[in-house]
Amino acid sequence: MSLNTIAINRLMDRFDSHDSVWLFGYGSLIFKADFPFIERRPASIQGWSRRFWQGSHDHRGTENAPGRVVTLVPDEGATCHGMAYLVTPEEFAHLDHREKNGYLRLATEMRFEDGSAAEGIVYIATVDNAAYLGPASEEDIARQIATARGPSGPNSEYLLALAQALRELGKHDGHVQAIERHLLAFTGAAQR
Ligand code: SIN
Repeated sequence: MSLNTIAINRLMDRFDSHDSVWLFGYGSLIFKADFPFIERRPASIQGWSRRFWQGSHDHRGTENAPGRVVTLVPDEGATCHGMAYLVTPEEFAHLDHREKNGYLRLATEMRFEDGSAAEGIVYIATVDNAAYLGPASEEDIARQIATARGPSGPNSEYLLALAQALRELGKHDGHVQAIERHLLAFTGAAQR
């Protein structure tokens, strides 16, 4: 079921000769920076919305019971807020491995809060990848997240950490917040 994108991503050599490259993170890359970076800055990209539409077999779920993690979907006029990291090109070997379950490197422009911009890389899981799950209601997404768990831990931890990181950035994401609300309602009900 899972498609390993490492080999495809290695072919994306556009920034290999650069001393450093900006990486835009919008999901776990916001709250879990398990790689060395030169600098980190809040940033945004245009024309994309964050959605819990990607399946996770390797981090927050399993082959038989995939979790749900975020990808970006094209959305004209939308702005996706996240965190940008300035890294050396060598870090992409680790990042490709981490994002191997369907994510492809894409070159993108990102904007920083001071109004400046830079070109860099974002990992996106497109509709044609084998782990893609696609749309579902936010309640159903929360229900799936409530029970999924994988080698990196419970799927709920990913959702709650992302929601908290976005709050700390001062950015509102209605989709993430709605799923968080449903999840907290389920888990609160289960504890009563
Ligand atoms: C990202 O965070 O930018 C990609 C998706 C993820 O790893 O959660």
